[in-house]
Formats: sequence, C-alpha cells, structure tokens
Amino acid sequence: MERTYVMIKPDGVQRGLIGEIIGRIERRGLKISAMRMNVIDENDAKEHYSEHCEKPFFGSLISYVTSAPSVSMIVEGKDAIKSMRTINGATNPSEAMPGTIRGDFALETGRNVVHASDSVESAEREINIHFKDDETNEYTRID
Ligand code: CMP
Repeated sequence: MERTYVMIKPDGVQRGLIGEIIGRIERRGLKISAMRMNVIDENDAKEHYSEHCEKPFFGSLISYVTSAPSVSMIVEGKDAIKSMRTINGATNPSEAMPGTIRGDFALETGRNVVHASDSVESAEREINIHFKDDETNEYTRID
C-alpha cells in the first residue's frame, strides 16, 4: 500500500470539477483517507513548491494556489503515486492524453486543475505540510 498527496487546485474547484475528479479517483479503486477544502496558507504553498523557488513562474504559482480554496486529499492504494499521476496526465495539458483529467479539462500548465506527488519522498513531505496525523481516517474500501 502506498499513499500520495492530491490537490484539486483553485481552477478545478472554481470550475465545479471536484465531484468529477473525486469520482475518477474512487472509480479507479483508490481510497481517499483524508480530505479538506481550504485556502492554502502562503508559507505552506512556498514549502510545498520549494523545488520551484528559482523558476520564473514561482511567484505566480504561489499567488495562484493561495488565491482561492483548494481541495487537499490523501489518496491510498497499490502504486497510488504512479496511478494518480497517470489519472492526472502530463503537467503540460497540451501533452496530456484524452481520458486524463488534464487531457480532458485543461489547456494551460499554470491552470492544470490538479496536483499529485511525484515520489514516495515528495508524498510524505507534502502530506506532512497539508495534514496533521490525526486527520487521516481508517475504513475498509470494498471493491
Ligand atoms: P504541479 O503538478 O502542481 O507541479 C508544479 C506546478 O508548477 C505545475 O503543476 C504547474 O502548475 C506549475 N508550472 C510548471 N511549469 C510551469 C510553467 N512553465 N508555467 C507556469 N506554471 C508552471
């Protein structure tokens, strides 16, 4: 079992895609063990995206993800990290395959609807930024 951090970014929330995205995650057989909607704190956003701090788009990325509510989730399951990134599609939506979230709903890298961790290390780091230990939930997923 593996777990990953998933964010429905402000554009996904504002476009009414929360149910669509959660439906895709659940139908794939992945389990959502924590979920919250909130406006992400600026310091948390900077920590989350720290690997991009030297990039020219860093400022606009931080102001964008902190501009309006996002949905944060911990998603669990077999190969959850790779599976979630496959469900999301390529970071640049123009390269994302139809059938993926970005391939179906996005056109711009700066408005690419969703985020998912890219490695085990990133997943644990990002989960710890966005969730406290007591915010995860135990239940049996029946398929
Ligand atoms: P995400 O999967 O959240 O990881 C890093 C984010 O940085 C990425 O999605 C995009 O939202 C953003 N990003 C990456 N490259 C660019 C770019 N060239 N221009 C604007 N935003 C970018």
